[in-house]
Amino acid sequence: MTLPPTAAIVLAAGMGTRMKSARPKVMHAVGGRPLVNHVVETLKAVNITKVVVVVGPGMDDVKAAVAPHTTVEQTERLGTGHAVLQAKAALKHFEGDIIIAYGDTPFVSAEAYMRLQTARAEVNGPKIVVMGFLPENPTGYGRLLIGPKGLERIVEEKDATPEEKRVRVCNSGIFAVEAATLWAMLAKVDKNNAKGEYYLTDIVTHARAADILCGVVHGEEDELLGINSRNDLASAEALFQNQMRRRALDGGATLLDPATTYFSADTVIGQDVEIGPHVMFGPGVTVENNVTIKGYCHIEGAKIRSGAQVGPFTRLRPGAVIGVDAHIGNFVEVKNASIEKGAKVNHLTYIGDARVGAGANVGAGVITANYDGFNKSHTDIGAGAAIGSNSVLVAPVKIGDGAITGAGAVVRKDVPANALVLNDSNQKVVEGFALKYRAQKKAQKEKAQKEKAKK
Ligand code: UD1
Ligand code: MG
Repeated sequence: MTLPPTAAIVLAAGMGTRMKSARPKVMHAVGGRPLVNHVVETLKAVNITKVVVVVGPGMDDVKAAVAPHTTVEQTERLGTGHAVLQAKAALKHFEGDIIIAYGDTPFVSAEAYMRLQTARAEVNGPKIVVMGFLPENPTGYGRLLIGPKGLERIVEEKDATPEEKRVRVCNSGIFAVEAATLWAMLAKVDKNNAKGEYYLTDIVTHARAADILCGVVHGEEDELLGINSRNDLASAEALFQNQMRRRALDGGATLLDPATTYFSADTVIGQDVEIGPHVMFGPGVTVENNVTIKGYCHIEGAKIRSGAQVGPFTRLRPGAVIGVDAHIGNFVEVKNASIEKGAKVNHLTYIGDARVGAGANVGAGVITANYDGFNKSHTDIGAGAAIGSNSVLVAPVKIGDGAITGAGAVVRKDVPANALVLNDSNQKVVEGFALKYRAQKKAQKEKAQKEKAKK
């Protein structure tokens, strides 16, 4: 079967008052990705030629999040039918099928959208296909009234008779409709109903009146989970994390304590990767094969090349690239820096806006001073260099290949290859000072205590 071209309309105009947030509901994230982007990403996988997202007034952040997809604004919230209508102009010359999806329902799978497409494309089949489901608790959902010729009507809970309310097959809200039928039927929808809204669901009634067939495909409740509150968001995050953990395990990673490993939607984990407890992956992380990440690391926007070792207690920030077989240890922060093959940065160090050459060793407590309050500057550490403990590398600065900086060196000027850099501070030794010092301090303390006792 060849599928007709398909466009999608994603409804995302609701503010989501129950979220109690200044941010639009669909901008809240699951797995570090805004809800609406989950939907748009999934639609990508089902050959959608054009996506139009319907946003509310002032939702510039939603527009930016879904760019370069088209957005249209619904200035007044007059119902799902009205929301879909806002996308008509943007799809003026589009002929084919239109999928209607919800921006706050992030887990609908590509397979589910494809089932809708396939049912729609059946020869002499329905022009409107609705995804129905059997929720454990149907309260609040529209009910699908099905007859011998298929779907006859969708009745909203508020408009339903007691008998209609007993129907357990509910409307998920997700549709696939032939474009011409959608616009023709929407034009007939009015707001004579309990909510006084233009219901998208009424297109079914109008289609049946014109003897147009309507159909139902079934969806799974856990995919159709809509987010309305922070509690829903937390449950969705938990579900999503479990999925991601299973995916990492199935992909050949070892998670020492899976329940404490947190992934982002785009985290890529290779084979034979070992991850210790309490590791958090923010957006934009790729971990290649044979990497070990020990416990308590926070990693985002970073690439960890094969064989590298990271942690425990490492923070990798955006732009960190940890090279093949490199080691990054405890209380080390790396930002916008590349640590090349086999280099070691093992203790209490900040490496920002820098390159650490292959095989270099960075001692404990080293700081790249990359920020002067106005500009960020680059530090370049050559291959095989040895940076002594507590060195401060004041950027912009270049340490040549194989150079050594002494402990505590403050390096402000470039250092040639294989040179040693020390700051002039001769070591002064005062023999016996400590004994005299302690005796003096002890006497002072005793005198003070005696005076206190006299009072
Ligand atoms: C809708 C369906 C109902 C279905 C349920 C599934 C209608 C009339 N009812 O009801 O049959 O069981 O979803 O969850 O379609 N939206 C806009 N602009 C509007 C109104 C809504 O963008 O003017 C968006 C909302 O942000 C939301 C979606 O459309 O993402 C659904 O709207 P909502 O108000 O939640 O509809 P329900 O009453 O739940
Ligand atoms: Mg709803």
